[in-house]
Amino acid sequence: MSSDDDAAIRVVNLTKTYRSGDADLTVFSRLNFEVARGEKLALVGESGAGKSTLMHLLGGLDRPTEGAIYFGQNDICTLSAADLAAFRNREVGFVWQIQSLLAEFTALENVMMPLLIRGQARETAEPLAMARLNEVGLRSRASHRAGELSGGEQQRVALARALVGDPGILLADEPTGNLDSATSAQIHELFFGINRQRGTTIVVVTHNPALAASMPRVVTLRDGRVEKDERRDADTRAPAAAAAAMATVGPRVTSAR
Ligand SMILES: Nc1ncnc2c1ncn2[C@@H]1O[C@H](COP(=O)(O)OP(=O)(O)OP(=O)(O)O)[C@@H](O)[C@H]1O
Ligand SMILES: [Mg+2]
Repeated sequence: MSSDDDAAIRVVNLTKTYRSGDADLTVFSRLNFEVARGEKLALVGESGAGKSTLMHLLGGLDRPTEGAIYFGQNDICTLSAADLAAFRNREVGFVWQIQSLLAEFTALENVMMPLLIRGQARETAEPLAMARLNEVGLRSRASHRAGELSGGEQQRVALARALVGDPGILLADEPTGNLDSATSAQIHELFFGINRQRGTTIVVVTHNPALAASMPRVVTLRDGRVEKDERRDADTRAPAAAAAAMATVGPRVTSAR
């Protein structure tokens, strides 16, 4: 999907209503915003504000009630189920709070999965997956089953898997929510590095004030609309400064194996 404008994602009049029983719940109504190519954006807001709902819509995992989501010139909301699946596989990398790896498969197999799904041969997928594992510092764990890895290691494998297909956009929903502050800082360093080296657009949902503060743009969702859209100079915060900011956050619950 190519575009001649600067927007990586353009959300137009996006409305999402859940129907449960007789009651309708409108999470957001006529939401509008853009994410520029190569931008790093934190999405924040109270629990229930609709952050995960929005991430699912952006990633083509769910469909809106009304409105459009343009990636370049293409509105993904009009795609067939098969085209939407292909779009997800090629254009978007996902990292969730809860580890989504296949526990019985090795770290390497997990990272290869998106390439195998798109029909790539194992012989070409494997070196690419290994290179990504190397980037997240886990080459030595390649043959370990995902279920045997620590929470932070699993999250780094998930990041390698999200990136193996070279997506233009990385969507992360509380990717460090279960991790201690040092491991969180390490993951955030990786995000910054990916954005810097490959220009990957990153949207990250976080309840972590230090992570949000380290991002050049912070969008706050509240009562179904964008309450605040704050920008800082993108290059004033080096990853090291972000890491230092992380260190000021108190210890968090470390996930169990
Ligand atoms: N499948 C669903 N059916 C009905 N209601 C839903 C569904 N998914 C989410 N909701 C409701 O939509 C609202 C937004 O949920 P969402 O998960 O997007 O919030 P969130 O901002 O990600 O919150 P948190 O910070 O707790 O993760 C909530 O009130 C939730 O109960
Ligand atoms: Mg959520």
